[in-house]
Amino acid sequence: MYLMILGAPGSGKGTQGKLLAEHLKVPEVSTGELLRTAVKQGTPLGKQAKTYMDRGELVPDEIILALIREILDAKGVRGMMMDGFPRNVPQAQAVDRLLGEKKARVDRVVLLDVSEDELIRRLLARAAKEGRSDDNLESIKTRLKVYHDQTQPLISYYEKQGVVRRVPGMGSVDDIQKRAREALRS
Ligand code: AP5
Ligand code: MG
Repeated sequence: MYLMILGAPGSGKGTQGKLLAEHLKVPEVSTGELLRTAVKQGTPLGKQAKTYMDRGELVPDEIILALIREILDAKGVRGMMMDGFPRNVPQAQAVDRLLGEKKARVDRVVLLDVSEDELIRRLLARAAKEGRSDDNLESIKTRLKVYHDQTQPLISYYEKQGVVRRVPGMGSVDDIQKRAREALRS
């Protein structure tokens, strides 16, 4: 099973995606996490990505498409929880093509619904704790705009395939996880 967890920055993709992946016994892969590790290690990928990430912009597709190909082509991969990708329509088309080559598809998209006030509250709370370099008000605003302009169109892209399951993403982590598991039963 290939699943994708979709939502605005701070909506809980990482938190809920990891729990769902454990429950469904598929690996969880986050392009954001992979990129942050590359930045920390100072690899060529990290060096290319850092400025975009700090500003809250998407890393250009020519860089990301190579990364996505590597993730999906990895030997023995039979299913996945995809967190943070695809992130725009060209990436979604690339994912469809790569999965199609394995006679697979995106089976479900879990869409986390969270109000903008709550998103900003969560990201600023994390800024105080962890200091992620894109958790500042200016980058958060760019991330929200990028989500609205480039990522939200994926909702109708996948709704046309009948695979989107909307999950209210406010409340406790446990309650949201219960709702997400329930939503995946249909
Ligand atoms: P990415 O790492 O994907 O970040 P994001 O989309 O901005 O989202 P976050 O990881 O901040 O939030 P989340 O939805 O995972 O929520 P989380 O569970 O952490 O991308 C970062 C950057 O990398 C992009 O801007 C771009 O530059 C680049 N990038 C990545 N993928 C790319 C791609 N495919 N193409 C191009 N560029 C790409 O929760 C957030 C906080 O809230 C946490 O502190 C958490 O503890 C807390 N929280 C979670 N649930 C709850 C709850 N129920 N109640 C209260 N607090 C909660
Ligand atoms: Mg995340």
